[in-house]
Amino acid sequence: MDQAEARTPPCAGLRIGDIAPDFSARSTTGDIRLADFRGRWLILFSHPADFTPVCTTEFVALASEAAAFEARDCALMALSVDSLFSHFAWLRMIRDRFGVEVRFPIVEDPTLVIGRAFGMVSAQDNDSATVRTSFFIDPAGVIRAMSCYPANVGRSTPEMLRTLDALQAVDWNGGLAPANWAPGQAMLKPPSNSLDEVYASADETSWFLSEQVGARDGR
Ligand code: BEZ
Repeated sequence: MDQAEARTPPCAGLRIGDIAPDFSARSTTGDIRLADFRGRWLILFSHPADFTPVCTTEFVALASEAAAFEARDCALMALSVDSLFSHFAWLRMIRDRFGVEVRFPIVEDPTLVIGRAFGMVSAQDNDSATVRTSFFIDPAGVIRAMSCYPANVGRSTPEMLRTLDALQAVDWNGGLAPANWAPGQAMLKPPSNSLDEVYASADETSWFLSEQVGARDGR
């Protein structure tokens, strides 16, 4: 294997705009199929391993915010190479130690077949302790955003919710979410693609950078 192959970044196999590859698998909530989640938003995310410190904090944080994801009609689905019985034992420990029940499914992927299809592990890797990827999948099954964190840095639940809010808001009102946008804040108007409008605009920026009237969070 050469250096370039060894460093193939996770998520590289899929791009924003792709249809999320379908799969069926065993999970902590029974047998599930990705396509069965069509019609609502879904965040599919991988974690390096059960019974690890950062992953445990992520699951406590996400399960504690389950109602916030539900309010946005967004399901959560986790995935790792650990066995179903490892997932069960970990969830039991989380419930007993932290008082939080993880009710969203955790998929077992012992052969890495799903992780590889999603680019969560590189094709050359034989172990899964690599990265934390998250795929934001819309109700049509299209990947709309993805993130990739290393094993030693946990994801931010508020940022996952904010990303979801922004994706839903741009769908509702056709605006653009500026840096640090949060629900309730103004969105931007898509830029003009007509030279006449550019010359007719009130000043040198308003043709490409202006607030979209009335476009906030769309709810
Ligand atoms: C963690 O979640 O803490 C972790 C997972 C894999 C490697 C290192 C840390």
